Amino acid sequence: MDKLRITGQRTLQGVVQASGAKNAALPLIAAALLTAETVQLSNAPQLMDVRTLAKLLRSLGAQVEQDGGQIRLSAAAVNHYEASYELVKTMRASVLVLGPLLARFGQARVSLPGGCAIGARPVDQHIKGLQALGADIAVEHGYIVARVATPSGRLRGARITTDMVTVTGTENLMMAATLAEGETLIDNAAREPEIVDLANLLRAMGAQIRGDGTSQIRIQGVDALHGASHRIIPDRIEVGTFLCAALAARGDVTVQGAEPSHQDALLDKLREAGAQIDTGADWIRLRADALPGGRPRAVSVRTTEYPGFATDMQAQFMAVNCLAEGAARMTETIFENRFMHVQELMRLGAQIDIDGHTCVVHGVPQLSGATVMATDLRASAGLVVAALAAEGETVIDRIYHLDRGYDAMEVKLRGVGAQIERISDRISGK
Ligand code: EPU
Repeated sequence: MDKLRITGQRTLQGVVQASGAKNAALPLIAAALLTAETVQLSNAPQLMDVRTLAKLLRSLGAQVEQDGGQIRLSAAAVNHYEASYELVKTMRASVLVLGPLLARFGQARVSLPGGCAIGARPVDQHIKGLQALGADIAVEHGYIVARVATPSGRLRGARITTDMVTVTGTENLMMAATLAEGETLIDNAAREPEIVDLANLLRAMGAQIRGDGTSQIRIQGVDALHGASHRIIPDRIEVGTFLCAALAARGDVTVQGAEPSHQDALLDKLREAGAQIDTGADWIRLRADALPGGRPRAVSVRTTEYPGFATDMQAQFMAVNCLAEGAARMTETIFENRFMHVQELMRLGAQIDIDGHTCVVHGVPQLSGATVMATDLRASAGLVVAALAAEGETVIDRIYHLDRGYDAMEVKLRGVGAQIERISDRISGK
């Protein structure tokens, strides 16, 4: 298993390029199942999760070709309708094929994802919504077995109110409703930029969707969708991770290829912490090389759905708070178990008290390098941020989590002056 070795306190300075968003790319790839024509995506990140979904689509009979940031998808010859446990257990977002398969082929068999490091993460809202659209769904032998049970063989539009705001749940239902008969209203819909990006691709494919970006999405079903080309939005979580790294390491970094309007909640918190932020049409610059007092200020945050502070940024922002002047409360409201980085940050010298869903982070003047373990994707990113600012050497084990969601992270960070290298067991022969 690969590790990362980081020698901290190097000056981070310069320009780093953002990749396309993982959490936009995954539903966009799944959406290609809705048509027999070709869907082309550009600005695609090169990530393990994208490769996993490509493998799943190929196993269904689709053609998927990735060449750098371009992905070409054709689902003309799909003749399997099953997402196996082997694939779904490595990536929960595989459940995104459920809605498109049901809508276009009237059947799907998708493994239930099972447990997850950051919380239980059930998919009951996906199932409930698809049932409202006329699907007959049973859970058998660990699989969601779904069929369209209407006389016409098509899903039919319905009013769906989800019990909580769910991102992939909203995406699954949006995709399913595009080919349903009549109108669907998804109430309490997620408002994330990734939802709007999916709606934009679906509209380019001929879907009729209104209200994306609000909590009420209306979809008028159509008989068929066609091919389209689409550019994936920037990865706001990758962008945010670089900005937190720049603040923790007190650098001056510009992230190019970003979408500042997707980052309001984070930028407010970074400014509160003392960072100087400048933005342009597609860039964000963070300057922390002349912080008054030399350290960021501790800033409390509470994770909520978009447009609030993203749960996917909680670990990285906690790493900043670990080095701040003062104490901050950090409350996680989206997932039950998303503080696994806390124990690892404490190995670097952080002072954090956990009480259920809230942590109190008492800033310390300095962290010191140590060997730590990555436990999930964003926890790993939090450890990278902390390690870049820590004195001495940090080795982060199990970075396959990081490879799932960050495109060439160590290469990008080296480009702005970080001392960071991958230690590969395969090369060393261990
Ligand atoms: N939930 C249910 N039932 C459902 C669906 C969700 O109880 O049927 C609960 C979840 O357990 C959770 C909350 O609702 O407590 C919100 O979960 P949501 O469904 O919104 O999460 P998701 O769609 O599975 C996406 C991202 C996550 C991100 C969350 C929250 C993708 C592929 N994944 O997950 O990204 O943390 O939204 O913003 O879009 C990551 O990139 O590291 C990551 C985990």
